[in-house]
Amino acid sequence: MTGMTTPAAHIVDAAAYAQAVEDAVQASAAYYTGGTSVLDDDAYDRLVRGVAAWEAAHPEDVLPESPTGKVAGGAVEGDVPHTVAMLSLDNVFSPEEFTAWAASLAGRVGHEAERYSVEPKLDGLAIAARYTGGRLTRLITRGDGTAGEDVTHAAGTVEGLPERLTEPVTVEVRGEVLMTTAQFEHANEVRTAHGGQPFANPRNAAAGTLRAKDRAYTVPMTFFGYGLLPLTDTEPGLAAALGEAAHSDLMARAAGLGVNTTAATAVPGVTADTVEDVLARVREIAALRPALPFGIDGIVVKADLAADQQAAGSGSRAPRWAIAYKLPAVEKITRLLEVEWNVGRTGIIAPRAVLAPVEIDGSTITYATLHNPADITRRDLRLGDHVMVHRAGDVIPRIEAPVAHLRTGAEQPIVFPEACPRCGSAIDTGEQRWRCENGRNCHLVASLSYAAGRDQLDIEGLGHTRVVQLVEAGLVADLADLFTLTREQLLGLDRMGETSTDKLLAALATAKGRPLARVLCALGVRGTGRSMSRRIARHFATMDHLRAADAEAIRRVDGIGTEKAPSIVAELAELAPLIDKLAAAGVNMTEPGATPPAPAAEETAEPAEPAQVGESPASAGGPLAGMTVVVTGAMTGPLEKLSRNEMNELVERAGGRSSSSVSRKTSLVVAGEGAGSKRAKAESLGVRLATPDEFAVLVADLIG
Ligand code: IVH
Repeated sequence: MTGMTTPAAHIVDAAAYAQAVEDAVQASAAYYTGGTSVLDDDAYDRLVRGVAAWEAAHPEDVLPESPTGKVAGGAVEGDVPHTVAMLSLDNVFSPEEFTAWAASLAGRVGHEAERYSVEPKLDGLAIAARYTGGRLTRLITRGDGTAGEDVTHAAGTVEGLPERLTEPVTVEVRGEVLMTTAQFEHANEVRTAHGGQPFANPRNAAAGTLRAKDRAYTVPMTFFGYGLLPLTDTEPGLAAALGEAAHSDLMARAAGLGVNTTAATAVPGVTADTVEDVLARVREIAALRPALPFGIDGIVVKADLAADQQAAGSGSRAPRWAIAYKLPAVEKITRLLEVEWNVGRTGIIAPRAVLAPVEIDGSTITYATLHNPADITRRDLRLGDHVMVHRAGDVIPRIEAPVAHLRTGAEQPIVFPEACPRCGSAIDTGEQRWRCENGRNCHLVASLSYAAGRDQLDIEGLGHTRVVQLVEAGLVADLADLFTLTREQLLGLDRMGETSTDKLLAALATAKGRPLARVLCALGVRGTGRSMSRRIARHFATMDHLRAADAEAIRRVDGIGTEKAPSIVAELAELAPLIDKLAAAGVNMTEPGATPPAPAAEETAEPAEPAQVGESPASAGGPLAGMTVVVTGAMTGPLEKLSRNEMNELVERAGGRSSSSVSRKTSLVVAGEGAGSKRAKAESLGVRLATPDEFAVLVADLIG
């Protein structure tokens, strides 16, 4: 969380002001009705702040169509009146601005707010769902705040809004309709398959989908409730109860009625007693944001008690008892300049987008992932396109979609390579991810450097430069050749004296004895990383057992599903000559401490349910027996030198299960310095936390 506000647009004269108003009105209309705007949220915010600044200096020249002071920027209308106005929210952008808002609230109420409710600001569209006698009867958009559009036709496609409540009450549930990231991707797949243009982002997709009436297809959306009010005076008791209830109680009531709320997410609404506590929760939610399966654009803080809300009152646009603490935008529009095709260490040819540099939340973004050629075709991306780029936390930036209506006609198709861009071999296009037919040998330097890396065979003295030298000298044509290098061969290389040669030979001899898990990882079996390699090695104990396994047997390894198992079998078959060569060179092919699966069990046992991906199996004894442990942040003290992989190995040696993601199932989170979202998630779920030093004591016997 930066707490920084991007500057307002600078408006110099009345003409620029009029233009700015027009642009803002257009963008706002697109925002609320599912069209695509030329402006991303950040640019829109800056424009409106510029408009507001100019109006403050020229109050007599304010244009009636100006978006300032209006719900939804005045962009939309509807014909179903709201019983109680659906207001918007004012924004703050920093702890200082929030503290000032809390003070002004205290001024209005006569004392500090008794309690606050703090919840994520969901990035979708406000909607009112009317229930009569417990049955969903009407769905209405916010519209201009006093009347909205009837979108009841969408009722069946909104998850989280039940057809029937658990009680026959007549109430209005208010909340946000959005698309989760998965729903958005699905929606764009379906839409493009029907010949439509992809939506630029999930918000846009939700807005367009909600209003669409006669589409040949339906795509699901999700509702999260954030308000509950009585609808008629036929139930005066209920009306009084709801009117007097604290916001947090209303949310619990809504959930009890069967309505989806944030209570079921990693960022449930919580209450906080002080401004400091609110700010701490704001930081937590901000840290959790990148890992959420839906978009949030801030945090909403509300006075929790009905009495405080009534005392604060509301303005025409927004209530005075609630505020949106905006987080930096994670999406910007920029241009797709070029597509690069890079060959990875296993021969995969991956496209990467080169973008016109754009700043998102303090970092300049110039590249984004593009997955695979089929994905480019499906999304109809073209060179020169304006694209919506998404970047949250440390996740690699991605292109959400082209902003199709900004096309000029000068955009060019993206040309796919016909031969491997690295070695010129043919390309295997049989799968979604294209691969050089030369496989691992195409980018031998990358594959050997990876194999020699710290978390694989850990061959000291075999850095990238040395690998290049060995490959260029023709001494090494695959991984196994490393282990038959002679003293003479090494001495013949430039800058290789006796000492470096002996050191490298000793490091290679040590590497031959590494456990099977690391050998597997060094081989770079596609679809298996470090933790999966460890799970496979522990399960099968020897390379022979692993190679004898069919897909069914491989599926018994935790976390390997029906899709992955056959591809692992195929990979091992492809790697067979290399594995034989490595074994012949004396490389260890067993996992210390593991026992092979009993053959009888292999035949009769039902395949185990795949565990959550990213988890390793727990072994029987040890200080962490039965525990699922997540390590995050930088290690210190006795564990300082251990890489994340080595920490996970340690957890498993101690009988625990290592995992990369925090959930309710996590038993312990080892949080070192700089731990961010995982620590926050552990705190919010009440999962036990340990410092690296505390953890070192737990596993003291294993670290010696
Ligand atoms: S409360 C009277 N709570 O943000 C209070 N709004 O920018 C009105 N929003 O119109 C809203 N998450 O569409 C509230 N937890 C939340 C929210 C939320 C998202 C939206 C809502 C509102 C807009 C204002």
